[in-house]
Amino acid sequence: MPHIPFGVDMDLLSGALHNPAHHLVRKASDMRGYYADANALDALIRTGNDPLHYEVFEAPIPRESGDLMVCISALQPGRVGEECFMTKGHYHTIARTAEVYLCLRGEGLMLMKTAGGDCAVETMARGRMVYVPPGWAHRSVNTGPEPLVCFCVYPADAGHNYGDIEVQGFPKRVIRKNGDIQLLETAL
Ligand code: F6R
Ligand code: ZN
Repeated sequence: MPHIPFGVDMDLLSGALHNPAHHLVRKASDMRGYYADANALDALIRTGNDPLHYEVFEAPIPRESGDLMVCISALQPGRVGEECFMTKGHYHTIARTAEVYLCLRGEGLMLMKTAGGDCAVETMARGRMVYVPPGWAHRSVNTGPEPLVCFCVYPADAGHNYGDIEVQGFPKRVIRKNGDIQLLETAL
């Protein structure tokens, strides 16, 4: 891909980018193993017609050192059992790479953890930026009734490493119970 300046149009409400180079779609069936209540996820897949979980639209940028990847994502509202819809979460393959998330719509939480056992949680809301430092795995969680739409920028060669997350998850799970958002400690 040639390195020439370009611009792209984005729909900041739905969280879409026109003519993306990549369009990642994750449905409920792609999330097996990630939620505490596997039966509730199975029921959602069967009776809810395997609903959309989240989408990520990436701009046409080479995954090369020196470039910055730009993407916009929309995480749908909903729950699996009591647990709020969330992304899989990942480390960056090149651990020294950070990421900036600018929230454009909705409400949520960003769960972050390091391989050394540190954990952090930041709120996400329209107009709020969350900085994910190098070495921190990150997962977004939609705690509200609308799609959680975010604009992200990170080094284009960072890569995604799902590492221990499918098995171990994060030190906290986010549930909505009786209308309240609660953070549950998990036994890691
Ligand atoms: C890129 C990034 C986001 C996520 C997106 C999907 O480094 O953090 O664009 O890729 O939120 O999350 P995962 O990849 O964890 O399914
Ligand atoms: Zn990332």
